[in-house]
Amino acid sequence: MYSPEAIKRFKNPKNAGKLKKFNGLGKAGDPDCSDVIEISVLFEKGIVKNAKFKVYGCPGAISTTDAFIDLAKGKTMEQALKISQQEISNLLGGLPLSHMHCSKLPIEAFKDALKDYQNKRR
Ligand code: FES
Repeated sequence: MYSPEAIKRFKNPKNAGKLKKFNGLGKAGDPDCSDVIEISVLFEKGIVKNAKFKVYGCPGAISTTDAFIDLAKGKTMEQALKISQQEISNLLGGLPLSHMHCSKLPIEAFKDALKDYQNKRR
């Protein structure tokens, strides 16, 4: 069962969409379930200034990505890279064990967005 916080977030994810102004775009997918997310990130002076996401996926992918973005905003790139699946789960008041793997997607997509940002600056 999903927690009330996870249900609230997948019914009405506040970070859904795509930023108009971003400098890092990342994607991640799970080959087992075919869920895919895209995350657009605005990095400014080493800080995650803003981010939004689009998803083709399960409630777990939606709620964990929404939570990840709340955790990442305002953090340095290095701090945001350290956000763990457990931290995401904690913010959601826990995740069903069978959907813990969904929280990998925002972490992987964020890494991809950071790589994109760094490649563009070269
Ligand atoms: S079941 Fe695939 S990300 Fe949730």
